[in-house]
Amino acid sequence: MRIRKAVIPAAGFGTRFLPFTKAVPKELIPVIDKPTIQYVVEEAVAAGIEDILIIVSTGKQAIQDHFNPVFDLEQRLEESGKIAELEAIRKISSLANLHYVYQRELLGLGHAVLQAKPFIGDEPFAILLGDTVTTSDNAPVTKQLCDAFDTVQSPVVAMETVPMEKVSRYGVIGGTEERPGLYRVHEFVEKPSPAEAPSNLVVASRYVFTPEIFDYLEKTPRGKGGEIQITDAMKMMLADYPMYGRRIDGRRHDIGNKLEFVKSTIEFALKRDDLRDDVKVFIKELIGE
Ligand code: UTP
Repeated sequence: MRIRKAVIPAAGFGTRFLPFTKAVPKELIPVIDKPTIQYVVEEAVAAGIEDILIIVSTGKQAIQDHFNPVFDLEQRLEESGKIAELEAIRKISSLANLHYVYQRELLGLGHAVLQAKPFIGDEPFAILLGDTVTTSDNAPVTKQLCDAFDTVQSPVVAMETVPMEKVSRYGVIGGTEERPGLYRVHEFVEKPSPAEAPSNLVVASRYVFTPEIFDYLEKTPRGKGGEIQITDAMKMMLADYPMYGRRIDGRRHDIGNKLEFVKSTIEFALKRDDLRDDVKVFIKELIGE
């Protein structure tokens, strides 16, 4: 079955990016001139997804504003002949069918995803974290997951390789590689020490699930920090259903992390024709070469 729907959790407080996130959703942190969540929506659309549910909370109205049309602005751009800008603005409000639901209490990522149950109904769907951009020289990462789902017809999580000494920050996957880059998952281990980790493959902010995940999320007790952890639901589901991990061809950029934000901004600038040369000169001057 083709993946037609996606869920983008974007309700969290974003405490790692305070004070900026006091009044502005972290999903609107820009990488150059585009908010993080616009990259995320574009990634879903590039995977052929048409209907997207964004999970929001109080204080996140600006996310909806970003995707809604602003007719006065469009008129002004048209009158002043700023056609490229006009097209860019119009494109945002016609990217996909966007829907919104409120997560009333911020009880974690698992709880955020659970808010999507009525919207998803009885079909497989993708989850893309709203604060994380991915890049790839080949197919967009969500497309890679959807293709893997086509092959195995079972849940698939994106996996990324990290240095062994960093595994304790992530959900780590133990599995067997059945096809190049596609692993049958045996276990999910949350934030293990390097000695305990079954591998250095970690869950990387994109997922494709079958609707059964909701049954497990409903049964998941509050875990660490009083939150409903999606990994706990995935562990329970793994006991009953086959699950897979796709080692992504590409990279993720966790923009809600300050260092990652800075690195991504530089990296994206160096890829842009309008910025590359000036940024290179600036960096050389800055480091005194
Ligand atoms: P994070 O754990 O990175 O978000 O969740 P957070 O809690 O906002 O971050 P910090 O640690 O306090 O800085 C990843 C994604 O899941 C969403 C977030 O908005 C983010 O896009 N999320 C998280 C929810 O929608 N609801 C939640 O209860 C928690």
